[in-house]
Amino acid sequence: MAYENVVLETEGPLAILKVNRPKALNALNSATLEEILSAARELDAAPQIKVVIVTGGGDKAFIAGADIVEMKDMTPTQAVAFSHRGHIALSALENMQKPVIAAVNGYALGGGFEVALACDIIYAAEKARLGFPEVTLGIFPGFGGTQRTAKLVGPAKAKELVLTGKVITAQEAYDIGLVNKVVPADQLMAEVRELAAKMLAAGPIGVRLAKHCINKGLALDIDAGLALEATTFGLCFGTQDQKEGMTAFIEKRTPSFQGE
Ligand code: CAA
Repeated sequence: MAYENVVLETEGPLAILKVNRPKALNALNSATLEEILSAARELDAAPQIKVVIVTGGGDKAFIAGADIVEMKDMTPTQAVAFSHRGHIALSALENMQKPVIAAVNGYALGGGFEVALACDIIYAAEKARLGFPEVTLGIFPGFGGTQRTAKLVGPAKAKELVLTGKVITAQEAYDIGLVNKVVPADQLMAEVRELAAKMLAAGPIGVRLAKHCINKGLALDIDAGLALEATTFGLCFGTQDQKEGMTAFIEKRTPSFQGE
């Protein structure tokens, strides 16, 4: 598919999905949400792609939120549909079989923060600013922010952010566990590539199934989660990757995983 608001770049097994609407600091209008959904599906279906990086075009913003101009005159019914469209697009990112890393290169506000929280791991530039300013607009986060934030950091920290609309630094987001690593802006992509390289060197089936267990386990009680883990763990033993990984260990050589 041809994209207008999203740029897709591939470097071998690595894909970079860049949200790129410079005139609106990459704000998410309906068209951009549809493109993120299509890109997530396209990359998930591409067997050669093993890790995806999500970032923002330009050097100022990751994504400055949902598009306020598009939302301003929405009816309640249209707003429900818009929220639903955001949920579908961001859940598609969250549920991709391969790891998705957010490289937060600047403002990640409202819907932009919600995109980052739908990714598996967040690396942020020191200058990045993150938050949910929605209450200052008379609304509240509608692309999963009330749900994912509370699950990640608990209800008290989530409420402190969502109910005040305060914007925090990358370091503050790291301190409460919403960001995995804070790095100088000019090193962000290099650091994210280094992280991706570790995942790319690992057995892709193990990586994919581990993500599945962690994501699905969050909605399960401990016994159901452990049962899911045990049966999924067993699946690894039907793969060539498991045989190769363990044989390589015993033979003291680097494994060559084929993802089979
Ligand atoms: N929607 C639409 N346009 C936006 C936008 C947004 N979320 N954020 C920025 N823009 C536009 C601005 O209107 C401006 O356009 P013009 O040049 O045509 O005036 C352009 O991008 C550049 O922005 P600024 O001039 O404001 O840049 P700045 O450096 O002074 O400020 C900023 C940067 C602090 C990020 C500021 O743009 C800002 O506060 N943006 C809105 C952030 C926000 O409230 N996000 C939440 C949106 S609601 C939401 O996301 C709901 C949801 O969960 C579903």
